[in-house]
Amino acid sequence: MRVLAIESSCDETAAAVVVDGRTVESSVVASQVALHARYGGVVPEVASRQHLRNFAPVVRQALAQAGCSLDAIDAVAGTRGPGLAGSLLVGYNGAKAIAYGRGLPFLGTHHLEGHVYANWLVEGPEPRFPALCLVVSGGHSDLVLMRGHGRYERIGGTRDDAAGEAFDKVGRLLGLPFPGGPHVARLAGEGGPSTLALPRPWMHGTFDFSFSGLKTAVLHTVQRGAYPAAAVAWEFQEAIVDVLAGKTSRLARELGAVEVLVAGGVAANRRLREELQRRCPVPVRIPPPSYCTDNAAMIGAAAGYRLALGQQSPLGEDIFSTNDWQRV
Ligand code: KG4
Ligand code: ZN
Repeated sequence: MRVLAIESSCDETAAAVVVDGRTVESSVVASQVALHARYGGVVPEVASRQHLRNFAPVVRQALAQAGCSLDAIDAVAGTRGPGLAGSLLVGYNGAKAIAYGRGLPFLGTHHLEGHVYANWLVEGPEPRFPALCLVVSGGHSDLVLMRGHGRYERIGGTRDDAAGEAFDKVGRLLGLPFPGGPHVARLAGEGGPSTLALPRPWMHGTFDFSFSGLKTAVLHTVQRGAYPAAAVAWEFQEAIVDVLAGKTSRLARELGAVEVLVAGGVAANRRLREELQRRCPVPVRIPPPSYCTDNAAMIGAAAGYRLALGQQSPLGEDIFSTNDWQRV
């Protein structure tokens, strides 16, 4: 089954052609980072209007790169939330329109399920179940047990700032460009251990996360001005990676997961990748960085497996209609 997938949940307009949930024939991402940089964050209305401009060219490019036309497409997938409503509406409705116009099945795909399925785009044997998924993006830090395709139990999540949000806010405190995550990581690479000891918010007794106190500790450190920015970035990254890798490895052990699947933009972080590999008791899978940040290939992968289960979505489905990622 050849799926045309579309993603527009935040500030990336993306389209991809994916076969059987595993083989990427094309993956095109039009980033709006430069457009939002001067505002220090994504401006929702600017993002949705840019999606409108990008939508058709990006879809055309994805088809051209895959060397096919819409005649060769078997189903169309569009990203459902979480995400920015105005942004989601553009890609989601565009995907529905193509499906309707061509009489093809439509699959609304939960954005975080898409992130998890980036792990199916990696060559080699497929992930095995039960798998523990750590989804760390700009808006989410979730620990989810995946018992099979489309079967999730959300065990923990962020109570305030998501991991990516914490990276971005710390980036702003350190005067770095938006989005801060990759810049903080780069600056941390120039730093090293010092006498600075930032708190590790362990939240004992739960697998939830809370990073807002850590962010405030960074704010106070920056205000005191006692440490160079690279030392602050280094210690902040160590603290957040310590908590993410520590909780994930402990939960994998407790639940008897046979694999750990990492997903979302923060999974591109090299230190997080290293620490998860080092500490987890079972094999850890992490997609290549280009499939960690928002892209449509991951949406095509998730949709491919839903199709194989015989599922499709009604064209009347809402951008936030979901029960498939709830805490149980
Ligand atoms: O998954 P994603 O592309 O978009 C959302 O669904 O939110 O994640 C974006 C987030 C941003 O907060 C960005 O700063 C963060 O991922 N990020 C990183 C790195 N690359 C992207 N955070 C830390 N280290 C990185 N190398
Ligand atoms: Zn995302």
